[in-house]
Amino acid sequence: MSDTLKREAAAKALEDVRPGMRLGLGTGSTAWHFVDLLGARVREGLEVICVPTSEATDRQARDLSIPISDLDTLGALDLTVDGADELDSALNLIKGGGGALLREKIVAAASASMIVIADSSKVVETLGRFPLPIEVNRFGLGATRHALDGVLKKHGAEGEIRLRGADGREPFLTDGGHLILDAFFGRISQPEALSRELLDIPGVVQHGLFLGMCSKAYVAAPDGVRTLL
Ligand code: 5RP
Repeated sequence: MSDTLKREAAAKALEDVRPGMRLGLGTGSTAWHFVDLLGARVREGLEVICVPTSEATDRQARDLSIPISDLDTLGALDLTVDGADELDSALNLIKGGGGALLREKIVAAASASMIVIADSSKVVETLGRFPLPIEVNRFGLGATRHALDGVLKKHGAEGEIRLRGADGREPFLTDGGHLILDAFFGRISQPEALSRELLDIPGVVQHGLFLGMCSKAYVAAPDGVRTLL
């Protein structure tokens, strides 16, 4: 069911794509559907040029013969279409469940607009039910954790380093070779202050709060796709 909804939201976003656009391609299971549908349109002759936000999306797009470039070559993008782990009614987001938040944020910030595609389970009243991913440099991890623990405690949260692998003992590494610390808030009541305080810590590379970056969301539910502006 949810996969059908993700594809419906992705199909709706495809209607916003115009020939000649420079597109940012998101990461995750919902963005996967968008890239898949875009690939079909490209096969039919649609001309676009795309910047993927992860190695996984890069591979998927290349397999579909979608023309790929990079931000340094294109300079700016017209539109980024990406999924989200959570979105609120002001279109503030939590992203990074798939660990691609750094490139996703760089690409979204270089885009004239960002559309989020999601099923309705992602819509929340207040961000924070989903653990906030915080990308940290491996160098000086102890010092970074100490500083992070202070900020998280102040905001009522605790964090843990994301693990991967069958036995869950190896740290998850992002495409940039960084660690992810997932922070459990339950509810983030001061997202702007939290964002600033996290970015003030030298070892924090980026976090998954996307505040004021998304201009439109297509949210799919069993009774249709809603547009949030
Ligand atoms: C990856 C992301 C994804 O957009 C987010 O995790 C949503 O993924 P999905 O569409 O699989 O639920 O931010 O870093």
